Amino acid sequence: MKLSPAKSIRGSVTVPGDKSISHRSVMLGSIARGTTEIHGFLEGADCLSTISCFRHMGVDIENKNGVVTVHGKGLHGLSAPSVPLDCGNSGTTTRLISGILAAQGFSAVLTGDASIQKRPMGRIITPLSMMGADIKSIHENGCAPLQITGKPLSGICYDSPVASAQVKSAILLAGLYAEGETRVTEPQISRNHTELMLKFFGADIRTEGSTATVRQTPELYGNRITVPGDISSAVYFAAAGMILPNSEVLIKNVGINPTRAGLLTVCKAMGADLTLINQDHSGSEPTADLLVRSSSLHGTVIQGSVIPAMIDELPTVALMACFAQGRTVIKDAAELKVKESNRIALVAENLRAMGADVTETDDGMIIDGGRPLHGASISAHKDHRLAMTFAIAALAAEGSTELQDADCVSISYPDFYTDLKRLVRS
Ligand code: S3P
Repeated sequence: MKLSPAKSIRGSVTVPGDKSISHRSVMLGSIARGTTEIHGFLEGADCLSTISCFRHMGVDIENKNGVVTVHGKGLHGLSAPSVPLDCGNSGTTTRLISGILAAQGFSAVLTGDASIQKRPMGRIITPLSMMGADIKSIHENGCAPLQITGKPLSGICYDSPVASAQVKSAILLAGLYAEGETRVTEPQISRNHTELMLKFFGADIRTEGSTATVRQTPELYGNRITVPGDISSAVYFAAAGMILPNSEVLIKNVGINPTRAGLLTVCKAMGADLTLINQDHSGSEPTADLLVRSSSLHGTVIQGSVIPAMIDELPTVALMACFAQGRTVIKDAAELKVKESNRIALVAENLRAMGADVTETDDGMIIDGGRPLHGASISAHKDHRLAMTFAIAALAAEGSTELQDADCVSISYPDFYTDLKRLVRS
């Protein structure tokens, strides 16, 4: 795709539903009793993979007029799939479903695309095996495809070596079925959407600091869910608003759960002109509209506990840092290397190709801001977050940019280019 520079970005946009919450609403809806009606479901390829997996396990899921209705089967009502379950590009689908499959009365294979087959699954195989699960990497390389045969499980106390909501959620979902209590402690708090939704669906779950504990649960009960807009999709418009001159953009109804909203803290630290309006704390997931204007950004250090709360936004923050005065250091973010792509290496490579001063480190990047970006021929390497980040970079660069694999935005934001075009002033 050829992308040209923009003068500014102006107007308002409603970003699609949160990807993490959309996945969980289908998963919990499927293993709950009764009906779960999901409003604002993200119709991206990743969440559609989750729907498809549960349909293959006998769950009736309707998707009509913007509402997804899941006719739950109860905790023990899933049936054996007759084909391998295809998780596509989705790590969340693969890891969270593994936790559920570990306790079913059947055997299933989980697989996915080339990227999924390279991502680490040892991080869920280890704790689920400790619970008694029979889960194997078919090629014995610690990656999908996984063969999972349901077994009776027992609760564990697990000290997770990574702050990962996918790992935590896989264990908690298995914990619904496990005898006794299952406890996960993380080095830092990761997103807590699973815990919030499990509670909403009637599970016996509690959290204390970075520890979540669930007890074996007799039944979950379906409920109505309204999915807030995804802050991980909002970040692209927020960044464009900050780095392009004469810009003002209102991003409506964005989820600002504190375990997800590290971006807001970092934007503040960088001097961004970002205001939260219409804050709503009435549901289990808080929301706000984000009003963003052109900003004089300055460098900052991004590290420690804020990292898991903004892990998917870091590629875009690296772009913002190129337009900030001074140095920005991103550290403690080695997890970026095992996302849909190696996001440290590829963000650094693409930003450098556009003229930025970026040094890749073992666990992040060092960016010296202030060098103007120029158009370049770059690739998103089939990573949706790279595609959207570099579409924004192209708007703020001089000259045109050729972006390969631009269409992979369909993973999390199918209408991204349409929404962007509407806001751009050229
Ligand atoms: C997600 C958790 C994060 C995030 C991913 C979605 C989730 O991954 O990067 O896009 O829905 O639980 P990790 O748990 O591996 O950090």
